[in-house]
Parts: sequence; structure tokens; C-alpha cells
Amino acid sequence: MLADMKAGTKAKAFDLKDVAVLGGPFKHAMDLNKEYLLQLEPDRLLARFREYAGFEVKAPQYEGWEAMSLSGHTLGHYLSACSMLYASLEDIRFKERVDYIVDELEICQNGHGDGYVSGIPRGREIFLEVASGDIRSKGFDLNGGWAPLYTIHKLLAGLRDALRLAGNVKALQVAVKLADWLDGIFAKLTDNQMEEMMICEFGGMNEVLADLYADTGEVKYLRLAERFWHKLVLDPLAAHEDCLPGKHANTQIPKLIGLAREYELTNDVKRKLTAEFFWDRVVHHHSYAIGGNSFGEYFGEPDTLNDRLGPHTTETCNTYNMLKLTRHLFQWNGSAKEADYYERALFNHILASQDPVEGGVTYCLSLAMGGYKDYNDKFEHFTCCVGTGMENHASYGSSIYFHSDEKLYVNQYIPSSLNWKEKGVTLVQQTDYPEDDRIAIQISCKEPVNYTMCIRYPFWAEKGIEVKVNGEAQQIETEPGSFVEIARRWIDGDQVEVTIPMTLRLESMPDNPSRAAVLYGPLVLAGELGPLNDPDAFNFLYTPVLIPNHKALTEWLQPVEGKTNTFRTVEAGYPREVELYPFYRMHDKLYSVYWDLFTEEEWGKTENEYLIARKKISILEQCTVDYAQPGEMQPERDHNFQGDVTRVGLLNNRAYRNAGLDGWFSYDLKVRPETAMMLVITYTAAQEMPACEFDILVDGKPLTDVQEGFSEMERFYNVNYVLPEESIKGNEIVTVTFQAHPGHRVRRVFGLRL
Ligand code: AHR
Ligand code: ZN
Repeated sequence: MLADMKAGTKAKAFDLKDVAVLGGPFKHAMDLNKEYLLQLEPDRLLARFREYAGFEVKAPQYEGWEAMSLSGHTLGHYLSACSMLYASLEDIRFKERVDYIVDELEICQNGHGDGYVSGIPRGREIFLEVASGDIRSKGFDLNGGWAPLYTIHKLLAGLRDALRLAGNVKALQVAVKLADWLDGIFAKLTDNQMEEMMICEFGGMNEVLADLYADTGEVKYLRLAERFWHKLVLDPLAAHEDCLPGKHANTQIPKLIGLAREYELTNDVKRKLTAEFFWDRVVHHHSYAIGGNSFGEYFGEPDTLNDRLGPHTTETCNTYNMLKLTRHLFQWNGSAKEADYYERALFNHILASQDPVEGGVTYCLSLAMGGYKDYNDKFEHFTCCVGTGMENHASYGSSIYFHSDEKLYVNQYIPSSLNWKEKGVTLVQQTDYPEDDRIAIQISCKEPVNYTMCIRYPFWAEKGIEVKVNGEAQQIETEPGSFVEIARRWIDGDQVEVTIPMTLRLESMPDNPSRAAVLYGPLVLAGELGPLNDPDAFNFLYTPVLIPNHKALTEWLQPVEGKTNTFRTVEAGYPREVELYPFYRMHDKLYSVYWDLFTEEEWGKTENEYLIARKKISILEQCTVDYAQPGEMQPERDHNFQGDVTRVGLLNNRAYRNAGLDGWFSYDLKVRPETAMMLVITYTAAQEMPACEFDILVDGKPLTDVQEGFSEMERFYNVNYVLPEESIKGNEIVTVTFQAHPGHRVRRVFGLRL
């Protein structure tokens, strides 16, 4: 394996096998994940691999996204997750699964005979078409397949982890043959054709190819990795231009992880700076309090989150990927701000995304005011986040500790043990954090050893930090958001005690100081509103507003006796008080993470307006049968988007789709038979040139009955169309098509609601 060439590295991660998670909520999450992974059947994950290699399938494929053209992505994650758990737990059952899958992949690869192997429908044909210059690349579709390189990336990542973490050497052989086959495909493409192909999401192809270079020393893989410099996105980012608004979040983050990896292997500083710029923009300008990002999978305008709350916020994959990127940055910089972000996202998104009873995970984690956690079915619904979830809850050991020759970083407060082989040191961290603010670290070593222990002093610790070594309080010379460094000759039996008192604080929306989340130390608190399917949920003030009226936070939010980290509003919630506790513990309840805050005077002035706005939203939600969001990937896929000469964009933070000359697009929407139905289409008031003239067809028949439009916002308006009775009767679904008149275009469509 090639050593990383980067200069100035501050810290290195430990191998998973050297860190054990011993207790607390992360251990619980790992245990649930472990059971889940053991319940999954490798033969079902392998079904399409065998089928496309011409072999009899041993078990039926899984449903959900595994039955769509993203099939095979789960197998890659599964290989990674099993390899991680094998490394962490030494549980031989995971090694057996890894070995079995790699054997099967080799058989399938031999069946194909030329190095190709995958579970992607028409995968081989798609790549051969691409190689011949026939490139039909849309955001998520390459020649009719759903992001095939995304799936290849997952497979190569799984094989890499099988090699590195589970010691499966054959995995490297399979990866090399597949990469060589792909090399042959891409060798035929010009740079412009590569760029065109990369319009379609390609995961972290640059990352896994750079890793393959590291694992083989073959420079051709590095050269190929470098060809995945997607100019459209990476050029502006390299010039420190935030080009993220309107871009699909999870498509971009892996590209930067790839750059990070390339930098580590080549020392190309441009790649480092680009990755750092991206990280800073996402973490500080595009993320919510829980550390997650995206609305309907997309980035919006920077520092503009107030109107981007809903059930489809914060896709969990994005945070999985941001944490991967953060791990790279921390190793370069050793900076507490990176470790602080890691803690925020780990507790408040990753841990919060798992069903603490059944172990299922969320795809998007709702930040709707009155939202709930919508866990994917573990065996039927293999979304991208089910795959990354398998890894999330297997990799907790990866980022608790880091080290250099002379430093040991204690980044996360998680009960765990560390075997620092190079120094002959074993360390055991005992804590009930975040249920308690005390952490005890016990050091064992045969010989005394010199090093500096760096203890993270979180940015939120406004009451300071107390560090004692063998009972003796240490002088703290740094500020929150740094590391407390203790340099000494450590001997067997040394004890470090750390206390980090937690306090309450509000974190406001960047674009609205009066809408805020409540945090307690590292924890985002969510307010419990009621049971799922609460009949009261449509009440306009179901999510109370908070009117603390100039009182200090600790006055109107007080601890609930007998319940850890739980607080209740006191004479502040209107029309009712609310109990808040850590978001990661919120389960099977309606909740809110964000709250609107008013003084009494403000509330007096705005109550009416506020209630009307809430009422409008609530009525709309109640009478909506279906809603399609044009320009956003998953909603479009869910509504069977079709089209030609059409493109997507973002205006005033809202996604849209339009069509160019003679273009068209369509969506399938659910109807409720026997009900009079209205189709509400949202356009922009802005003039568009050249003129837009188009028909709206429902199941092929033009709509004519246009009701009056009404102004929804300054620049958007809704137009209402009555659906003809015959299109509803006996139908469950209608297809709504926007068809440009000859020589004309279709204007921007921001939403279709039935
Ligand atoms: O397209 C594959 C994955 O599915 C995307 O990265 C994710 O955002 C989507 O839902
Ligand atoms: Zn996802």
C-alpha cells in the first residue's frame, strides 16, 4: 500500500480494530445495526449480479430501490459495513459474509469474462454506449440508467473496505479488473465527453480510484481519478465561489471527498483548498442546527434556511458524506472546529436518524415544525440512506481518537477503549456523556511514555472545562473551540477527569433571528408535540410559538426532575407549554426542532398575520392529495418524471423545471376518485423570453378550465385548473404534461399540487 505523501499532517486516524465502543447510545446503535446486517441475506443482494452474469439467481432480489436501476448500491454498502464491523468487533460472521460476497463477485466477474461486474440493469450496455460517444446524461440518468457510476463507486468502495478492513485480498483483484474495464471505457472519451457524462451523478469515483492507486501503486488509477474533475462544479469551488445554490447536495459532496483523497496522495494543494472551501460553505452557510444540509435533497442560497423546513430536509447520506470529508480535514488541520462539527452532526443527525427500537433509518430527516421521523423499511425500501446508514452505525470507532507521533487527540466523548500500539498505551474512556458532563480516562502502559493528550474543549462550553490529572486540576489556557493540551510523561494508572458543564442556548436561523433551535451543550433539543397521527396535528398552533417575553432562557426553560437532559417551557409556550429533550431520543412522536419566538408586544402585533399564514399552510396540507416538486430529484423520480429539451434551476430558493424550444415534460400525480379536484400550478411572475406558449395535458387531453390565479408571494403565483371529471373517474393516477407549442417554450414550473 502506498504511503500518503501529504506534508504537514497533524493527526492520523486509528484503525477500527484498535478502538472499541463500550456503551451508551452509540453502542446501542451499533448493536441494532449489527443485528440488522446479520438478518440481511447476501444472496438477495447479489441476485442481479448473478442474473446479469448469466447465472441462476439463488434468492430473489430485494424490493425498493434495489428493484430499480440503482440496484447493487446496497451490496457495496453492505460489504463496507460488514468489513467495518468485522474490524471493530472481530465477529467472524461478518468476515464470512465479506468472503462469501467477494467469492460470488469473482464468479460473476468471470461469467462476464472481461472484468465487468455489477448489478445495474443494462449496466454493460450503458457503459459501452457511453464509450462509443453516445452520451445521454441528465442529472441522475445516464443513458436510461439511474446514476450507474454512483453504484459502481459503492461497489469499488465495498471491495476496498473488504481488502483493508477484512483482509480479503481477492477483493482487490476484483476491483482491479473492474477498474481496468472502466479505464477502457473512459479512455475512449475526450475531456468534453467526460464532462458531459459527469452531468449525471457519479458518486465518489475519484475517491475510489485514488484509493485503488494507493492500494496498488498503479498510477493509471490516479490519472483516471483526476479525470473526474467535474469542471462545472469544481472550477468555481476552486475559485472560492459558492456555486452550490440549486445543486443536488449528495451529488457534490463525494466529489470533494475524492479531491481530499487525491490531495493526500499527490500533495496538490489546490485540491486541499477546494475541499476546505466547500466544507466551510456547507458547514457554516448551508447547514441546519443538527449539522445536516439540503431541502428536497438540494442546496439553497447560502444562509437562507428559514423557509426551507419540511419533511424532506437533511438527507442522511449528505451528513454521512460530510463526516467523511470532515475526517480528512481533521487529519490535515487537527482543528477543534472540525471535531466540534463532527460531534454536532454525529449526535444530532446520524444518531438521530436511527429508529432506537427496530434499527431502521431515515432517508431525509424531517425538520418540519410538527414533523416526524420517517424510517425506511429495513427489508423493503433500500434507499441510498439505508445503505449509508449501514456504514454510519458501524463506523463510530473511526473518529473518537486521532494521533500524531507526539499527540493523542480525544475528539469525541464516547465510552470506548483505545489500543495505541505504537506507544504501548491502552486508554479507557468511561462516561455517560451526554447524559452526564463528566468523562474519566484511564491510562495503562507497561513503560512510562511521553506524549501530549489533546482534549477537545467544545465551542459550546461557555462555562469552561475542568481537567484533572490524578486529581490535580490543570490550568486551562485556551478558549472554547480548541484543544486542552496536557504534555507529560504518562505512567501506568494515570487518570484524567474531564468535566464540561452543559448550558442551554438558542441557535437562530441565519435569515431569521426569531426562528431558533434550542441546544443543550452538544445536543439539539426537540419538543415533543404528540403521538403520530395526532388528530390535533392540523390545529394552526399545534407547534406552539414561544413568547418568553424578555426572560432569560434558563427562566423559561427549566429542567424536568427525574428526566435527564429534559426541559419544559415555563409560561412561554403559546397556546401550550412543551417538553424538550435530545433530538436523538425523539422517536415515534410528532416534534419540532425550530420555534418561532416573539415578545408579547410582537405577538400582539403579528398574531393575526401569523395565524392566517399557519392556517393557509394547514388547509393546503389537509386538502392536498399529491404534490410534485419539479427540479428536485427524488420527488421527480417518485412522480415518474419524463421529458425532453427540459432543464431545472433555482429561483429565489425554489426549484423549478422548464422546457426549451418544442420541449416537454410530464409527471404522474395521484388523484382521489370520486372527488372534484383542482390542479394548482406555481409559476413565477417574471417575464421569460422568448415567449412561453404551451399546453397542459391531462392524460393527453388539454386543460382549459383555468380558475383565477392568486398571488402567493411577490414573485410566485398559483394558477388553479379544474380537472375534468372523466380524468378522475376510476383513475388512481393522471399524467400531467407540459407541451410547448411549435417554436415556443414551457415557462418555469415551481410546483404541481392536486
Ligand atoms: O441518486 C442516488 C442517490 O439517491 C442520491 O445521491 C441521493 O440524493 C438520492 O436520493
Ligand atoms: Zn441518501
